[in-house]
Amino acid sequence: MLMSILYRSHAILGRESRAERSMLNTVRTLNRAAKITGHLHREEDVYYQWIEGPVAAVEALLIRLQRDPRHADFSLLGRQITTHRQFADWSMGYSTSNEGDLLEWAIRNGSSLKVTDPAQMVAFFHDQALRNEIRERPALYRHLRDAGSDTATAIDHQQ
Ligand SMILES: Cc1cc2nc3c(=O)[nH]c(=O)nc-3n(C[C@H](O)[C@H](O)[C@H](O)COP(=O)(O)O)c2cc1C
Repeated sequence: MLMSILYRSHAILGRESRAERSMLNTVRTLNRAAKITGHLHREEDVYYQWIEGPVAAVEALLIRLQRDPRHADFSLLGRQITTHRQFADWSMGYSTSNEGDLLEWAIRNGSSLKVTDPAQMVAFFHDQALRNEIRERPALYRHLRDAGSDTATAIDHQQ
């Protein structure tokens, strides 16, 4: 049985600092071992993280996260039992508002500005994960651009 959680917290570590990069490396190793996948997005000093995996592993991680001094004001936005993963290929995707602004995305997608609905957040994370993947795979990017994909267009605008 799988469980997923979505939370928001206040970042203490500098954005893309050495400490944050090193934390992400450790996190990805831990997640691969625990069969946890997900996505972490940083909007200024706010983290949003989607975590999914075996129930016991996610429950244990939830406790560790709440004690972790590298972020504060931990707030659980969603927690559900699920049958399939949203981020099966990601030991922990990471994006910042440089890559995609949550507020802009909400406006573009006609969502309410108070984006705390887990389903909306997951859609945003997917967009982010796809952008990261596209950047690393030029052939996929060209294919999406030729197919008129919104994500490819958004990346064009950033370049
Ligand atoms: C923003 C943030 C995201 C994190 N994400 C994960 C994660 O996805 N998986 C994980 O095992 N630890 C994650 N951690 C680290 C945990 O809080 C914890 O340090 C780690 O699981 C190791 O546990 P320990 O410190 O008790 O040894 C995260 C920490 C922060 C600050």
